[in-house]
Amino acid sequence: MNKFLAILLSAIVIAGCSRSAGNDLLWLCDGDPVVKAEVVVDPDLGLINDGFMIQGGPRDRVIKAKTEIGTLYGKYALQRLEATGKADEVLDIKEEPSYERRILNHWDNLDNTVERGYAGWSIWHWGEPVPVDLIKDYARLNASIGINGTVLNNVNATPEMLNQEKLIRVAEIADILRPYGIKVYLSVNFSSPAALGGLETSDPLVKEVQEWWAAKVAEIYALIPDFGGFLVKANSEGLPGPQDYGRSHSDGANMLADALAPYDGIVMWRAFVYSPKSPDRANQASEEFQPLDGEFRDNVLVQIKNGPVDFQPREPFSPLFGQMPKTQLMPEFQITQEYLGFSNHLVYLHPLFKECLDSDTYCKGPGSTIADITTGKTYPSVYKTTAIAGVANIGRDENWCGHDFAQSSWYAFGRMAWDVNLSSEEIAREWLQQTFTSEPEFLEPVLDMMLTSREAAVDYMMPLGFHHLFAWTHHYGPEPWCEIPGARPDWLPKYYHKADQEGVGFDRTTNGSGNTCHYHEPLASMYDSIETCPEELLLWFHHVPWDYEMASGRTLWDEICLHYERGINTVQGYQKIWEGVRPYVDEARWEAVRAKLEIQESDARWWRDACVQYFGEFSGMPVPQDVQQPQRPLEELKKIKLDMKHHN
Ligand code: GCU
Repeated sequence: MNKFLAILLSAIVIAGCSRSAGNDLLWLCDGDPVVKAEVVVDPDLGLINDGFMIQGGPRDRVIKAKTEIGTLYGKYALQRLEATGKADEVLDIKEEPSYERRILNHWDNLDNTVERGYAGWSIWHWGEPVPVDLIKDYARLNASIGINGTVLNNVNATPEMLNQEKLIRVAEIADILRPYGIKVYLSVNFSSPAALGGLETSDPLVKEVQEWWAAKVAEIYALIPDFGGFLVKANSEGLPGPQDYGRSHSDGANMLADALAPYDGIVMWRAFVYSPKSPDRANQASEEFQPLDGEFRDNVLVQIKNGPVDFQPREPFSPLFGQMPKTQLMPEFQITQEYLGFSNHLVYLHPLFKECLDSDTYCKGPGSTIADITTGKTYPSVYKTTAIAGVANIGRDENWCGHDFAQSSWYAFGRMAWDVNLSSEEIAREWLQQTFTSEPEFLEPVLDMMLTSREAAVDYMMPLGFHHLFAWTHHYGPEPWCEIPGARPDWLPKYYHKADQEGVGFDRTTNGSGNTCHYHEPLASMYDSIETCPEELLLWFHHVPWDYEMASGRTLWDEICLHYERGINTVQGYQKIWEGVRPYVDEARWEAVRAKLEIQESDARWWRDACVQYFGEFSGMPVPQDVQQPQRPLEELKKIKLDMKHHN
């Protein structure tokens, strides 16, 4: 047999996909699918990374890839085509991943809580026996959508994570994930050399510190030879970092990168930084990172949240994506719904993710989209590797994500990381078909519900560029009036909405914080002028008079009220849709989603009542007659204090 050509002719059973009473295997739930194909591993195939080909008709089908993992992806792809009724014809498919590294970020703590987690405790079961079957199921689900990396622990990392005992546990998890092509990465605390190693400092330019990291990295690779690397949140929200020693982000990142380089490990250095002193939180990542462009080692990626503030229902893209042409950049999205109704609201997030990736930064003229920059197309010589991260929404809940439809955003993140060009509709459709049914009477209305759900949430929470109107720390529900004595101003809604008698919104123009200057032309001018700024971002960039005339001819105030009403109406429409599709869904899931939609509808009205009445006190204008009037008095709403933490 040709040494480069291993042919396995078999009926491949992707085993263990049976569906139990719960919904534990999600989109892979329809029994044990059998994929009939010849499988060829040929290292000489001209495919990128773990790409694959599927060729031929149902009787002579062949899956080809350069690697075993590539063939696994091919098998899952064929399984998906079968489940969606597309495998009956002759196929000639070639797929290569858009991003080399497609990574989930778990914000899981060692006490098994999950920061911003709404689906139960950590699936890693720290301190308990390793849940081998659960982790295998997790691996299977991720491999089926192309995810090939996972950061096991919270970006707010404790030094203890690097204890030998913890690393042995990490190695056990890595062993379970490896056959599915998933590498393990860890978040690290920058002060680990001092906090864990007993050194006097964690200054990245001190030799003993560098040696400590080199030894720690060697210890990790002895246990996990294919370890992926480190994710670092430094000098952000109270966490330690190189600036504590007068060093720069690049000094810190490069020191870790040098320790990891001999093993091909990478550093994902987060750009989520903002200090209370900055006049505009949206400027700070650019101010701190742009001057460091070109200073990072080639095994460092700077990991940037999609927007310049923090995973809001709608933000413009982070201008930093267009400001570092000499640095490898990677986008970070939040799959868990910290700012989108937790696991109570049905919000399919692919449209939000795609809006960012499709954004044109104009950094190298028209067509310099964030997708093209971060997949290495815009500056090919700069990108030795490419990556994308999604903050996971996974926990121990029976349905994994707390809401049956929240699974779709996990699914969508993986599919998007594999193929940035897939549309929101394509992904939602195939997810629905695999998770529920292909019956058109179910599919079409529910698809419509998913595809409009992100915009509905923007409407009933924060329309027209409003942002961060959330309740204190837990971020569930509205609290635009929130005041906490002594709190950082940029953690309070008033910092963002700046409502007064004249108007509302954050002036980020050249007359204000100057944030618009961080964008390339023509965006800088477009955002800077109130006339050309897209209305969906109006209050993000401008302080706008209440009676400002909008494109519709209505005043700003009337438009605000209308958007809230529209959001509520849309959710009420979802309730009707869900009633209508009852015959197509098993009772348990139907009832679970129904109950959540009821919460979502009530929350949408809560948002409207709170925001319309609160901002009405500034505008002094009545809610228009043709719009629903608020139902619960503002004073009552102000008394709502939910007893929630920022972890489950
Ligand atoms: C948000 C979130 C925090 C998280 C932080 C981060 O601010 O509320 O819980 O730690 O983002 O991304 O680091």
